[in-house]
Amino acid sequence: MSDDPLLSVRGLVSGYGSTRVLQGIDFDVPRGSVVTLIGRNGVGKTTTLRSILGNVPPSEGTITFDGADITTLSPEKTAREGIALVPEERRVFPGLTVSENVEIGRIGGRRDAEKPTVDAIVDEFENLARHRNSRGANLSGGEQQMLAIARALVSAPDLLLLDEPTEGLAPAVVKQVQRKIEELNDDGAAADEVLDRYLGVSMAD
Ligand SMILES: Nc1ncnc2c1ncn2[C@@H]1O[C@H](COP(=O)(O)OP(=O)(O)OP(=O)(O)O)[C@@H](O)[C@H]1O
Ligand SMILES: [Mg+2]
Repeated sequence: MSDDPLLSVRGLVSGYGSTRVLQGIDFDVPRGSVVTLIGRNGVGKTTTLRSILGNVPPSEGTITFDGADITTLSPEKTAREGIALVPEERRVFPGLTVSENVEIGRIGGRRDAEKPTVDAIVDEFENLARHRNSRGANLSGGEQQMLAIARALVSAPDLLLLDEPTEGLAPAVVKQVQRKIEELNDDGAAADEVLDRYLGVSMAD
């Protein structure tokens, strides 16, 4: 395993139109690690993830993933390199079943990797396996969060970006999501976990 970080961000400047949100940030995600980005509302956590993914094109700086320069890649191409995002709002398709939602995640992502089957991924999530034919709209907030994570994992990413994965969840469910992230990391996926300050506090308990 290389000692180089899996992800390396240097001098990243990014924003919307003439508004600069990120004014030259640097950080690394070492291989096999979980990295948490903590900051108040509106400081630019989501913008950082969007810039890595390519939804918001950086105006300066470099983003290196597994030794390759991905600074200017589109989201589709970034996903093909092996980065998956679990978005802030989860964006579960309400009219599709659990299995169908996961199937959609299987369309994108790595071309070179063997992707797990939908059933294999759903089986890894106890609370999804029981509801594989339920529609997204009928799931609880915690189940929707697990589904959004499952949908990202089915693309066989090397780096998982999670934007506020515990937002709006009950404390017991927050713990479940935390445990799942730890489990994934133990399984060998390097995870870049971007959490809100509430989880930051609850982890310190
Ligand atoms: N599409 C957009 N167009 C213009 N400005 C935006 C857009 N999205 C976000 N912003 C602004 O960029 C700044 C950073 O927003 P961002 O969503 O990255 O913050 P955040 O740290 O993720 O906040 P939160 O904790 O509320 O999720 C904010 O001032 C926000 O108003
Ligand atoms: Mg955000």
